[in-house]
This record gives sequence, structure tokens and C-alpha cells, in this order.
Amino acid sequence: MRIAVLGSGFIARFYAESLHAQRRKDYITMVYSRTAENAKRFADDYGLPYYKTSMSEAIAHDEVDVVLISLPNHLHEAAVMECVKAKKHVICTKPLGRNALEAKRMLDAVEKAGIFGGYLEDLCYTPKFLKSMESVKRGDIGRVLWAKSRETHPGPHSDWFWDKEKSGGGAIIDLGCHCVEISRNFIGKNIKPIEVMCWADTQVHPIDAEDHAIGLVKYANGAIGQFEVSWTFRGGMDLRDEVMGTEGTIWLNSFLRTGFEMFTTGKGSDGYVAEKAESTTGWLFPVGDESHELGYPNMFTDMFEAIEEKREPLESFYDGYVVNAILDAAFVSAESKRWEPVILEDWRGDESEDTQKKWESYDDNHYLIKKEVLPNGDITFILKHKSTGEVSRKVILAK
Ligand SMILES: NC(=O)c1ccc[n+]([C@@H]2O[C@H](COP(=O)([O-])OP(=O)(O)OC[C@H]3O[C@@H](n4cnc5c(N)ncnc54)[C@H](O)[C@@H]3O)[C@@H](O)[C@H]2O)c1
Repeated sequence: MRIAVLGSGFIARFYAESLHAQRRKDYITMVYSRTAENAKRFADDYGLPYYKTSMSEAIAHDEVDVVLISLPNHLHEAAVMECVKAKKHVICTKPLGRNALEAKRMLDAVEKAGIFGGYLEDLCYTPKFLKSMESVKRGDIGRVLWAKSRETHPGPHSDWFWDKEKSGGGAIIDLGCHCVEISRNFIGKNIKPIEVMCWADTQVHPIDAEDHAIGLVKYANGAIGQFEVSWTFRGGMDLRDEVMGTEGTIWLNSFLRTGFEMFTTGKGSDGYVAEKAESTTGWLFPVGDESHELGYPNMFTDMFEAIEEKREPLESFYDGYVVNAILDAAFVSAESKRWEPVILEDWRGDESEDTQKKWESYDDNHYLIKKEVLPNGDITFILKHKSTGEVSRKVILAK
């Protein structure tokens, strides 16, 4: 694939590092940036043959097969519409839209034009995440009951993130989009998100948007998703997931503790440690290969293979739309302080509301509530009678 990158900022550079870091089939041929100076600097840094200060010219160029949107949130829709006009495949960074209305317009336009629309939710492509998903799909942890995801750091690096008009919101839209999609994957993308309860506040920064929020997303099968997002966290970038199933548990730490710990007095240098790291001395937690730990190479591989194989990627524009719809409900709930419905005018998954509750039997007359081996070796069973509802205890004595 020959790629045009729109934007030359933080994420555009991360993407370029991933795409050009090692020998790959797919490479960037073009960058669009508003100023020739920025465009040229980016093109020089990554050895690109072309750069433009006109977005439409960059997209329409003959040596561009796919467009990679790396622009601020308020420009995603316009950029997608330019790709639709030029009939070029498009992959867009997160969040897809500032809200579900924008995301739906993008989804519809891409589908109508018959072009590819990939949603760049990198955290659903980390090696840890993909392996966890295999376990979940095999049934290793049983039915998923609760999937919690946290992304917190001290706040983003560019002005537009802090401007609600341009970003669409604060930590909820910026970080909640990752967490919601992580939980959705664990719980099952075909399971309908029903309603959201969210607390949000502006605790530290003088902005109109929220800088801290916690939300619960209720799913049609009784599972619960939880997101914890903040621009007030100190100590780096904390990316953690916890999944609880009827037969097992998964804990993931994707950034702050990846098994690489280091101490330095700082006398040698004060170089880069890892994204959003707040210190360059003392005990540090660097990340071996940030692109891989954050999922970018696997994500691009899936996107480009999906284009070639004419299939949906693991993360599509449709997923971006569902995420936006869930976040819209979170914003409403943060105001109303009530559970608020997720409004999905286009739902493509299961409609049933099976609450997954299937009690385990101990014998014909009893359900098993709990079995435990006590310190003296006795085995205790807590039982519930199926017709009377009586709760009782049965003990098998140790020899
Ligand atoms: N993990 C991730 O997937 C991840 C991480 C960071 C950012 N992002 C997303 O990437 C997008 C860009 O974020 P960023 O961190 O790179 O921001 P950034 O501010 O570092 O870069 C934005 C780029 O867009 C350009 N730009 C700004 N206003 C413009 C305008 N009006 N017209 C044309 N170009 C304009 C800037 O010059 C810059 O090149 C956002 O949607 C953000 O949510 C995703």
C-alpha cells in the first residue's frame, strides 16, 4: 500500500515510525500539512517522495492508495469526505467523530462510496490484547461478566485537545474511546450496549471539558463495561485492563509496567523515557518498543490485509460509530446523573437480551453457590434448594 498521511503532528510521527521502522511492504509516499515547512520536515524525516499543503491534492495523488487521517478530531469528517470524493480507501485515528452524528455520516459516506473505512483503535491490537482475545474466544475465562479499562495520564500535548469545540470533549472522548472499545471486544461486539452511567468532573485544569471521568456501560447480556479516564493522573501513562469471567481473570498492564525497570541518577543524560513519562531520573519504567506495545504494527497489518482481501478489519468505521454512541450517552449521564440509553439507530449485532444467568447444579435438588477447601482440609459446599430457596451448608470432613 502507498499511504498519504494527513497531518504531521504527534500521532502522524508515531504512525510513520511504525510503518517505516522495519522493512515492510507498505510505505508512506505523501504527507499533507498546512505549512510547507512542516510538510517538508516530515517528508525529509521519513524519506517521503512527496509533500503537499493541499489536502485534496495529497489525497488525489496517483501514488496514493490509502489515506491515513492523523488530524485533530474536528477535521476527521471533512478529511473522510475528501477521501470519499476521490474514492480512496481511508483509515482514521481515534475517536472517529466528536459524536455519533459525525461518526454516522462518515460511516454512511464511506459505505455508499464503496471504499474501505478502517478505525485505528491501536489498543485493540497490542500483542497482549490479541492473545487475551484468543483466550476469551476459546472460553478460557468463561462468560465475561465485567471488563474494566483504564487510561490515565497528566493530559495531552496540543492546544486543540483542551478546546471542547475542536475535540468534542475532554478525557471521555480522548481516552474513553480506547477503554470503551477494549471492553466491547472482551464482552463481545455483537452484544448490544444498552445504557451508561457516568461521573465526570473538571478537577484540576481550567477547561470547559471534563478532565476526569468514570463510567459504567451495561450490555444486553448482563455484562458490565467500566471505563476510568483522566488527564489528572501523575506518574506517566497508565493503561490497564481487568477482565472477570465465570472461569477466570485477565489483568493487562500495557505501558507503565511492561517488565522493563531501570534506575538512573540522571547524571548521564535526560533523554526520552516513554510517552507521557514525567521523570528522567530515579526508578523509571521505559517501554521496549512503544509502537508494538501500543499495537500499531499489528493494526496496520490488519488494515492493509483487509483492504487486499476485501474484508472488514478487526476495527471498522462501524466500531468507531458504536464507540461514539456509547460516549454520547456517557456525556448525557454525567449531566443528568442517571443511567442514559445508548442511542444506536444502526445496530448490526444481536437483539436478544439474554442475561447469561445459568445457575450451576450441585444435585437434582440443589444449586451450588460456593465450594471451598478449609485450612483443615474439610470441603464445604454452600447450597440452595431449587424449590424452597433454603440456603444450607454441607461439609465433607477431611480424613
Ligand atoms: N493512540 C492513538 O491512537 C492516538 C494518540 C494520539 C492522538 N491520536 C489522535 O490523532 C489525532 C491527532 O492528534 P495528535 O496528537 O497527532 O495532535 P497534534 O496536535 O500533535 O497534531 C495534529 C496535526 O494536525 C495539524 N492541524 C491542526 N489544525 C489543523 C487545521 N485546522 N488544518 C490542517 N491541519 C491542522 C497540526 O499542524 C498537526 O500536524 C487526534 O484525532 C487524536 O485523538 C490518537
